[in-house]
Amino acid sequence: MNFGIHGYRTFLIEKGAGGNENDGVSTQPHNVLPRPAMAGELVPADYFRRLERMELCHDGRPLEVDLGCGDGAFLLEMARQFPERDFLGVERLLGRVRKVCKKLTRQHLSNGRVLRLESRYTVEWLLPEASLARLHLLCPDPWPKVRHHRRRLVQVEFVEALRRALVPGGEFLFMTDHEEYFGWVGDKVAECGGFELLEWPEDAFFYPKTDFQRQWEAEGKTMWRLRYRKPLA
Ligand SMILES: C[S@@+](CC[C@H](N)C(=O)[O-])C[C@H]1O[C@@H](n2cnc3c(N)ncnc32)[C@H](O)[C@@H]1O
Repeated sequence: MNFGIHGYRTFLIEKGAGGNENDGVSTQPHNVLPRPAMAGELVPADYFRRLERMELCHDGRPLEVDLGCGDGAFLLEMARQFPERDFLGVERLLGRVRKVCKKLTRQHLSNGRVLRLESRYTVEWLLPEASLARLHLLCPDPWPKVRHHRRRLVQVEFVEALRRALVPGGEFLFMTDHEEYFGWVGDKVAECGGFELLEWPEDAFFYPKTDFQRQWEAEGKTMWRLRYRKPLA
């Protein structure tokens, strides 16, 4: 499914990009206009052009994106652990965006920011080519019913856009408790091509647990993980 950037104008208005309601639903076109950013928030000057790399991160530093960052436990710990990298959380719910911004500011984490926007739109239309060192998609909604599969974030178009947005050698890390979505993502990446599957043993590198992961592991659920790399050449 690909609406083209103008079709997305309606989509953004429906889902909310700049409004003030917690669920972001609004029919008011003025809600797509940029609003003042909170400290720690990234508000694009224009939602209908691709961002410049310098709008996203400090000059020359690796950028990592956490799609659907929720309350931001993972984002905050990563920003604390790697002060030499920049981190961008993407989250559609304003209440969660506010919470993460407050925590980033309180903890003086100037290498972390949050963008309140829809994940697919962000990857397909806003991220510049070869701008991401890593993209994390952790515990996304699995949309388990077959008739809802088209709502899953990971579709071939998304994977193609993600491959464009990653730097050569950049990585896509995916984690879910839903075995069938795990298989689906493997299929979509294979269909798209242009990625190498890497091993991802637990504790291979610093990787904090997300809020949902902690909750699901406490319930005894298995987490399914995939790690891909865009080849260097
Ligand atoms: C199941 S939670 C996982 C949160 C976090 N990644 C974690 O593991 O704790 C999914 C999060 O993604 C956000 N989300 C879902 N669909 C989204 C979309 N299309 N665009 C942006 N955020 C989205 C939800 O609001 C929610 O905060």
